[in-house]
Amino acid sequence: MAHVHVIANQKGGVGKTTVTVNLAAVVADTLGRTPEETPVLGVSTDPQASMLEWATRVGDELPFDFEQCDDNPRVLSKLRAITRYAHIFVDTPGSLENQPILEEVLRQADDVIVPVEPEPLAFSPAARTIQKVIAPIGVPWRVLINNWDPRDGETDLKQTRDYLALKRFPTFNTVIRRYKLHARAAAEGVTVVQYPKNRVALEARQDFFKLALEVLGGLTSQVKPGHSGNAVSTGPGAGVA
Ligand SMILES: Nc1ncnc2c1ncn2[C@@H]1O[C@H](COP(=O)(O)OP(=O)(O)O)[C@@H](O)[C@H]1O
Ligand SMILES: [Mg+2]
Repeated sequence: MAHVHVIANQKGGVGKTTVTVNLAAVVADTLGRTPEETPVLGVSTDPQASMLEWATRVGDELPFDFEQCDDNPRVLSKLRAITRYAHIFVDTPGSLENQPILEEVLRQADDVIVPVEPEPLAFSPAARTIQKVIAPIGVPWRVLINNWDPRDGETDLKQTRDYLALKRFPTFNTVIRRYKLHARAAAEGVTVVQYPKNRVALEARQDFFKLALEVLGGLTSQVKPGHSGNAVSTGPGAGVA
C-alpha cells in the first residue's frame, strides 16, 4: 500500500504546488527511480492544474509519475489501495469551493503538510483549514513554513514560530527558504533535482531533502508508538482545542 501525503491549505499562493513537486522529486530521486520505474506518484486534485503544466514542461526528466485527477472522485477515493508506488504526493486546490475534493483526499491521507508563509497576519485561512477541515478527519498533520527570505531577518520567522507554538500546531523543523530558483522552476520546466550544481542551488535543494527526511521519518514514528518525539501529531488534530 502506498503512503499518501497530502499538501493542503485553502489559501492560494502559499506553496502547495511548489512543495508537492519538489518533495515528490527528491523522494523519487533518493528512493531510486529508473528510466522505466519510479516509487513515487504525484497527483494534482487542483482544477487549475498548475502542477500538470509544470510536470508537462519537465517532460521525461520528471522523476515521478504524474496524474491530474481533479474530476475523478472515484480514483481519489482509492489512492491508498494503489500498490505500484511507495509514496503518493497529492497537491490540492487553494479555494473553499473545492472542499469536497479536499475532504476526499484527506480521508486517504497518511499525513498532511500545511504550507504557510511566514506572515503571521495571513494565518487565519491556514488555521481555518486545519481546525475546520483537516483536524476533524483525524489524520496526522504538520505545518510547514515556506518562502522565508533570510535577508528579511529572523523577526517574521520567530513571530510565525511563536504563533504556531501558541496554537499548539505541530510544525516541521525544516523551513523552506525563498529562492528565485524555486519561483522560476515551473516556467523553466525543472524540479529541485535538476537544479545546477552551484552553491545556491545546493542550498535550495537541501531544504527539500531535509523536509523529505522529516516526512519519511514521521512515518516510522507513527508505526512505533512511544518513539514519536515531537515529530508527528498522532492524535486527531492534536493541540487543536
Ligand atoms: N520557497 C519558495 N521560494 C520562491 N518562490 C516560491 C517558494 N514557494 C512558492 N513560491 C512561489 O510562490 C508562488 C505560489 O506558489 P504555489 O506553489 O503555486 O502556491 P499554491 O500551490 O499554494 O497556490 C509561485 O509563483 C511559486 O513559484
Ligand atoms: Mg497550486
